[in-house]
Amino acid sequence: MTDLILALDPTTRTDAMRIASAAAPHIDAIKIGYPLILAEGLGIAKELKAFGLPLIADFKVADIPNTNQLIAQQVFEAGFSGIICHGFPGSDSVKACVNVAHDNGGECYVVAEMSHPGGAEFFQSGTAERIARVVIETGADGIIAPATRPERTRILREIIGTRKILSPGVGAQGGDPDAIAGLVDGIIVGRAIYESNDPGAAAARYASLRGKRT
Ligand code: C5P
Repeated sequence: MTDLILALDPTTRTDAMRIASAAAPHIDAIKIGYPLILAEGLGIAKELKAFGLPLIADFKVADIPNTNQLIAQQVFEAGFSGIICHGFPGSDSVKACVNVAHDNGGECYVVAEMSHPGGAEFFQSGTAERIARVVIETGADGIIAPATRPERTRILREIIGTRKILSPGVGAQGGDPDAIAGLVDGIIVGRAIYESNDPGAAAARYASLRGKRT
């Protein structure tokens, strides 16, 4: 079954905990990033761990290898089980995140192509394909690829084989879960759940829409 990953981007602890609590029975992991952590601090990670789900740090880390390593160490010390980094800084920068993730029993995902309209401007001239190859070279656990462009994600799947694809863009950005769920290992859903009047019901609905991996 394709995982359902909640992108928990509200900017107050109260909202984050309320939404996570309602959605938790229906989801397989929680992803948080700058919106929540800049608002509430890194300590929110330990509170969210109480739901017993994998916790992914979406910092889209994109620096030199030494700085990437320092960032990744903070992420795993804070209690995360996965980290997302960018691929365009190069394989040495990616490898720095992969090493720290694996040393901590965690996972590292690399953004191959972004899901918003502007994501097509720079990633689609062969860059996404090259980043997918960096994932293989560095031993990273998988890629982030767009639910909004299943035809692109299908091409990236051919490069990365059985490594994981986590796919944002379902819901608010217009991605159709039916079109993507069979192709990826996890769909990432944010606003369509956390802005809902009933986040638990919204999470249950997206959970029921997931297809089987093909
Ligand atoms: O609210 P929505 O469902 O659009 O949220 C998508 C989440 O996935 C956000 O946290 C966004 O930052 C993240 N993301 C994305 N596209 C990428 C990588 C991450 O939308 N390529």
